[in-house]
Formats: sequence, C-alpha cells, structure tokens
Amino acid sequence: MKIKLDSPLDMHLHLRDGDMLKRVAPLSSKSFAGALVMPNLIPPVTDKDMVEDYKTRILEAAGDESFEPYMTLFFKPEYDYDFLKDVKEKILAIKLYPAGITTNSSDGVDNFSVEALAPTLEAMSELGIPLCVHGETNGFVMDREAEFIPIYERLARRFPDLKIIMEHITTKEAVEALMRYENLYATITLHHLYITLDDVAGGLLRPHLFCKPIAKRPEDRMSLRKVAFMAHEKVMFGSDSAPHPRDKKEAPGCAAGVFTAPVALPGLAAIFEEAGVLENLQKFVSDNAQKIYGITPPKKEVILKKEPFEVPESYEDVVPMFSQQTLPWRIESVI
Ligand code: DOR
Ligand code: ZN
Repeated sequence: MKIKLDSPLDMHLHLRDGDMLKRVAPLSSKSFAGALVMPNLIPPVTDKDMVEDYKTRILEAAGDESFEPYMTLFFKPEYDYDFLKDVKEKILAIKLYPAGITTNSSDGVDNFSVEALAPTLEAMSELGIPLCVHGETNGFVMDREAEFIPIYERLARRFPDLKIIMEHITTKEAVEALMRYENLYATITLHHLYITLDDVAGGLLRPHLFCKPIAKRPEDRMSLRKVAFMAHEKVMFGSDSAPHPRDKKEAPGCAAGVFTAPVALPGLAAIFEEAGVLENLQKFVSDNAQKIYGITPPKKEVILKKEPFEVPESYEDVVPMFSQQTLPWRIESVI
C-alpha cells in the first residue's frame, strides 16, 4: 500500500541555529515542502535583519531541497504599526510566548491585559499578520493550557479580524474553545496524537517524551484525534519538533521538547491508517494550512509506503521519538 502527499507542511518547527541547525534542517527539508520556523533562539528573532539572516542560514543548512522556511518574529508588545509594516513581507506570523513558559522564552509576555497588547495586536490585525500563541499559564502543569483559554477567548473577541493560532493544543478544553470562535485555529503535534502523561511518567521516566505543554489524559488525546483524523478545517499539522542534545535530555533537569522531524510523516501515516482515515492526511498535513495561512508552498511529492521503517537510535546526538522502534510506514521517495 502507498500514499502520495502533495507538499506536506510542518506549521510549527524548531530548527535552532549553528551546528544543531545544520544537523536537523535537512531532516525536515527532505520530506516537507515548507515549515513555520519558531523564533525562540538566544537571543530571540525580533527584527527584520535577524529574520533575513536566520532564513539565509536555514536555506544554507537545508541544502538543495525545495523547502520554504516560513519565518516568524518573537512577539514583543512594543512592536508598532510602522515596524510591523516594514517586516511584514519577511514573515508569515508572529509567535507569542508567555515569559519563561518554555525553552528560551524569558523575553516573552508577562502582562496579558488587553490594554498592554492592544496596540501591537491592532496593528497585526490591520496588516493581516497572524498571531501564533503558546497558550499556557504558569499554574499547575496539567491545568496550564485550560487556564489559558480565557485569554484566548478575550483576544479572539477583542480582535475578530486577527487570525489566532492556538499552538500545539493538548486538551479537550482547547478543542472546544477552538470551535467557539471563527478566528481561532490550531496546530496539533504528532506526539500529542500518540501519547498521554502515562507514556512520559507512568512507568520509567521517558525524558525524550517530555515537552511543553505536557501530554495530558486519554480523553484529551481522544479530542485531538477526533479533529485531526477528520482533518477539521481549523486544525493543521505542526510537529513542534524540538531537538535538544542528548546531554540536555538525559539529565537531572531535562529540557522540554520531542524531536519528531524525521519520523513525522511515517508516524502520521501509521496513526491515520490505523484510524481508517488515510484519505484525510493530505488536508491535515498541507491543504488546511495553505487555506489558513493563504500560502502556496513549493511543489513536492512524497510517496509513503507501508513497509517497516526502523527508526535510528539517534541522529548524531539527538534522540528521535520512536527511537529504535519499527514504524509500519516509511518514506519511499520524494520528487
Ligand atoms: O517542548 C517544547 N519545546 N515546547 C516548546 O514550546 C518549546 C520547545 C523548544 O523550543 O524546545
Ligand atoms: Zn514549539
């Protein structure tokens, strides 16, 4: 059995910089036609020059593949209309992190009052720049996403023309909120479709599955699967593939992030096939994102074949999801 995917897109990807960028970029550019690249570098990507320079480094690292890095800027409440107008052509979206919520986010937002955010969000709304949000409070870890939902709702109501993307949703509550507002959209990762907190911490601790937001309950996973498997037009694939070197994961203080770039498409094919909805995968990994963001990615045809794929133990010093396991689908060819 085979399936063809046209121009798959990963609408939430961490590519890092330097040696790590060189290591991981080819693993995405090989099988994806494009990806929305997150700006949480040290220092974060906060102006036009930084965006341009980072994009150049990504293209260099991506090699000869036709691959479009869709760039993001790290949200700051001081961005004004003129600044954003100037940078608009270089970016596809702006990513908002609550301060300190995850990797390299200490320069994020600590005041979520509408007044504090309004000037920048009004400008983004007028310029048609979507807002991507890491939606977690700093409350109890299992409740952080649900606690953030009133903020999503406030923003969605106050800025009805602003497209707001709820990044890497993990809960039933987030799926329900998504459906209540026309201008809310969401990305869903591979790992949150597969795992619950039990897989992370129910037996021996699995550091390579530790991420933010943490995987939740079976009923949450069921809600995510439901909207992903039907390829609901408000959801799209965003891997949140977040590489960290082994010594930062297998450590007393484990960095958050699951590295899925090289296993994303086989992993999705396996779970969509198991659910009997392989025909919806094209929408989930490309068509929905094209509509939500109004983009036309480079042409790339990926053929997946139902044949065992033995996932490597690691890619240099980065351990992928499904390390040393066998997935039932593999990438046969890319044109
Ligand atoms: O687990 C995560 N890792 N979640 C994020 O939001 C950021 C990411 C990273 O950059 O490592
Ligand atoms: Zn992320």
